[in-house]
Amino acid sequence: MEIKDLKSEISGIVSSQYNIHDKLQGICDLLKEKVPHFDWVGFYFKNGEKEELKLAEFSGKPTEHTLIPFGKGICGQVALSNENFVVQDVSEQENYISCGIDVKSEIVVPIFNKGKNIGQIDIDSHQRSPFTKKDEELLEFVCEEVSALIN
Ligand code: SME
Repeated sequence: MEIKDLKSEISGIVSSQYNIHDKLQGICDLLKEKVPHFDWVGFYFKNGEKEELKLAEFSGKPTEHTLIPFGKGICGQVALSNENFVVQDVSEQENYISCGIDVKSEIVVPIFNKGKNIGQIDIDSHQRSPFTKKDEELLEFVCEEVSALIN
């Protein structure tokens, strides 16, 4: 599916009548289904006042990593760096939390709301080096759309 069609489907979900949880679930399911190298898609958000991330909606295999302290793993590092983190080969990362032997690469893009890093979208892939600038562009678009859902 073309990136522009994916973007328009995502905008459709965001502007639908569903509640925020169903919208986030719909985005996860859509991305996992339509992008062949996306094998796990999930949203993590800051857990209240705590310096940790909490797993929200996701599509793919359940993970035991539902709480991740800031600084730990790829996700925890993005909570502090405020920057996209593209890991084309997870075996080269020391600060990495494994969610399964089949995961070979990962991309995490932060979600900003009123200038604050409030969470992120996290994608795992079973392929090595699958991610391109187009994935980053798509995921940045998703994060902007999701931010608009949050007051
Ligand atoms: N691999 C992540 C942990 C979350 S899972 O990918 C679902 C990390 O290193 O932060």
